[in-house]
Amino acid sequence: MLLFLSLLLFAAEALGGYVVRQETTCTVHASGNFTDDSPAIIDAFELCGQGGRIQFLNETYWIEKVMNTTGLNDVVIDLQGTLLWSAENITYWLENSLPLGFQNQSSAWFLGGTNIVFDGHGYGTFNGNGQIWYDFTKGVSNLAGRPHALTIWDTHHSLFTGIRFVQSQMWTMTLASSSYVDMVDIFVSSTSNDSEPARNTDGADTLDSHHITFRGWEIHNGDDSIAMKRNSSDILIEDSVFYIGLGVAIGSTGQYPGQYEAIERVLMRNCSFIGTRYVGYIKTWTGVEQGFPPNGGGGGTGVVRDIAWTNSTFSNITMQVAFITQCTTFSGAVGECDTSTMQINNITWSGLDGSLLGSNIADFQCSGAAPCQDLRILDGDFTFTTNTTGTYSCHAVASTEGFAC
Ligand SMILES: *[C@@H]1O[C@H](CO)[C@@H](O)[C@H](O)[C@H]1NC(C)=O
Ligand SMILES: *[C@@H]1O[C@H](CO)[C@@H](O)[C@H](O)[C@H]1NC(C)=O
Ligand SMILES: *[C@@H]1O[C@H](CO)[C@@H](O)[C@H](O)[C@H]1NC(C)=O
Ligand SMILES: *[C@@H]1O[C@H](CO)[C@@H](O)[C@H](O)[C@H]1NC(C)=O
Ligand SMILES: *[C@@H]1O[C@H](CO)[C@@H](O)[C@H](O)[C@H]1NC(C)=O
Ligand SMILES: *[C@@H]1O[C@H](CO)[C@@H](O)[C@H](O)[C@H]1NC(C)=O
Ligand SMILES: *[C@@H]1O[C@H](CO)[C@@H](O)[C@H](O)[C@H]1NC(C)=O
Ligand SMILES: *[C@@H]1O[C@H](CO)[C@@H](O)[C@H](O)[C@H]1NC(C)=O
Ligand SMILES: *[C@@H]1O[C@H](CO)[C@@H](O)[C@H](O)[C@H]1NC(C)=O
Ligand SMILES: *[C@@H]1O[C@H](CO)[C@@H](O)[C@H](O)[C@H]1NC(C)=O
Ligand SMILES: *[C@@H]1O[C@H](CO)[C@@H](O)[C@H](O)[C@H]1NC(C)=O
Ligand SMILES: *[C@@H]1O[C@H](CO)[C@@H](O)[C@H](O)[C@H]1NC(C)=O
Repeated sequence: MLLFLSLLLFAAEALGGYVVRQETTCTVHASGNFTDDSPAIIDAFELCGQGGRIQFLNETYWIEKVMNTTGLNDVVIDLQGTLLWSAENITYWLENSLPLGFQNQSSAWFLGGTNIVFDGHGYGTFNGNGQIWYDFTKGVSNLAGRPHALTIWDTHHSLFTGIRFVQSQMWTMTLASSSYVDMVDIFVSSTSNDSEPARNTDGADTLDSHHITFRGWEIHNGDDSIAMKRNSSDILIEDSVFYIGLGVAIGSTGQYPGQYEAIERVLMRNCSFIGTRYVGYIKTWTGVEQGFPPNGGGGGTGVVRDIAWTNSTFSNITMQVAFITQCTTFSGAVGECDTSTMQINNITWSGLDGSLLGSNIADFQCSGAAPCQDLRILDGDFTFTTNTTGTYSCHAVASTEGFAC
C-alpha cells in the first residue's frame, strides 16, 4: 500500500502517465494528453521487471525521453496499445540517444534481459514518428544521434511476437549481444510520404548475436530488410515477405581496421521479395581504411561463410537476385576494390523463382586479395521484363556451381 501511494505521488509530480501495481503486475496508464509517459514506463519495468508483468493498455503512450530497461528476468510485456515517440525536440534525441558502441549508431530504447515474452497480439504498435526524421535527415546516411526505434540488448531465451513497427526513426531494431531469441509475426512499415527518402530504415539488424529466428515478418522499408552484421551466427529467416527495401543482407562488415568479424550459418527460406533491390547480398568494406565510421572505414578482416538464401519467390527485383561487393566505401572514396581480406566462402542462392526488371541475375565483385570461394546458384527460375537471357558478372570469383561467370 505504501508503495502504491508513493507511486501515485510520483506520477502526480511527473504529470505524465502512472503505474498501478497489483502483485507482480504493473499496469501503465497513459497521460493521454501528450505529457511524457516514459517516466511511468521506466517505473513499471523497475517495479515488475523481475518475475512480473508489464501491462500496456489500449491507449497511446507518448515518449519524449530515452529509455534503458535492461537486465530484466522472467518478464511478460503485454502491449495492447501504441507507443508513440515524440520527435518535437530533435536536439534532445541527437544529444541523448543511447549509444550502441558500433558505427556511431544509437537508440531511443534499450530493452533486454532473460526469459522475456513481449507480445503485441498483432496490434501493439511502436510508432517512431519517422517522417519528421526522414525530412530532417534529408537523405544523409547514418546521421549521428538519429535514434533507432529499439535495441534488444543482452537478451537471451526470449520471444518477441505480434508487434507492429511503423515509421521508425532510423533502423527499426537491432538485436545486439543476444542469443536464442525468436522474433515472430512482426510487421514493419517505414515509408516516406514526400520526396525525402526513408533512408537507413533497416527492418532488423543483428550484431554479436547467435541463434536468432525471424519468422512471419512483413517489412516495407527503404533499406536492408534484415541485415546480419558483425559476429552473427546461426540465424534463420523464414515465412516472411519483404517489400521495396534492399533484401536480406550480410554486412556491411569489415569496417573497423584490424577487427576480425565472422558472419556464419545464416539460412533464409520460404520468403517473398516484392520490388526489392536484391534477394540476398553481401557487402564488405575495402581492406584499406578510407575515412572513419559511420560513413567511412575499412581494413577489417574475417569470414562470411555458410550462407544460403533458398526456396523463395520474388517479383520485380530492381537490381540482381544475388550480389556481392567487397568495395564498400561511403565517403566519396573509390578504388582499393581488390584489398579486402574478408573471406567469402560457401554461399548459396537456391530454389529462387521470380522476375527481374533488368537482365543481370548476379553481380559478384569479390576481392583479389581473398577471392570468393564456392558461390552457388542452383534451381532458379528467372524471368525478365525485357526479352533477354540472364547474365552473370564476376570479379575475383575462385569457384562456382550451377552457373558460369
Ligand atoms: C495530463 O494527464 C496527467 C495524468 O493523466 C495529468 O496529471 C496532467 O495534469 C495532464 N496534463 C495536462 C496538461 O492536462
Ligand atoms: C483499441 O481502442 C480503439 C479506440 O479507442 C478501438 O477502436 C480498438 O478496437 C481497440 N483495440 C483493441 C484491440 O481493443
Ligand atoms: C530540447 O532538448 C534540449 C537538449 O536536451 C534541451 O536543452 C532543450 O531545452 C529542449 N527544448 C525544449 C523546447 O524542450
Ligand atoms: C543501461 O543501464 C545499465 C544499468 O544501469 C547500464 O549498465 C548501461 O550502460 C545502460 N546502457 C546504455 C546504452 O546507456
Ligand atoms: C563516431 O564515433 C567515434 C568514436 O566514438 C568518434 O570519434 C566520431 O567523432 C563519431 N563520429 C560522428 C560523426 O559522430
Ligand atoms: C507526411 O507526414 C507528416 C508527419 O506525419 C505530416 O505532417 C505531413 O502532412 C504528411 N505529408 C503528406 C504530403 O502527406
Ligand atoms: C511459407 O510462408 C508463408 C507466409 O509467407 C506461410 O503461410 C506458409 O505456411 C509457409 N510455408 C511453409 C511450408 O512453412
Ligand atoms: C568476433 O568474434 C571473434 C570470434 O569468432 C572474436 O575473436 C572477435 O574478437 C569478435 N570481434 C569483435 C569485433 O568483437
Ligand atoms: C555450406 O553451407 C551449408 C549451409 O548453407 C552447410 O550445410 C554446408 O555444410 C556447408 N558446406 C561446407 C563444405 O562447409
Ligand atoms: C528447398 O526445397 C528443396 C526441394 O523441395 C528441399 O529439398 C530443400 O530441403 C529445401 N531447402 C530448405 C533449406 O528448406
Ligand atoms: C511488377 O511491375 C510491373 C510493371 O511495372 C507491374 O505491372 C506489376 O504489377 C508488378 N508486380 C508486382 C507483384 O509488384
Ligand atoms: C526474344 O528474342 C529472341 C532471340 O533474340 C527472339 O527469337 C524472339 O522472337 C524474341 N521474342 C519476343 C517475344 O520478342
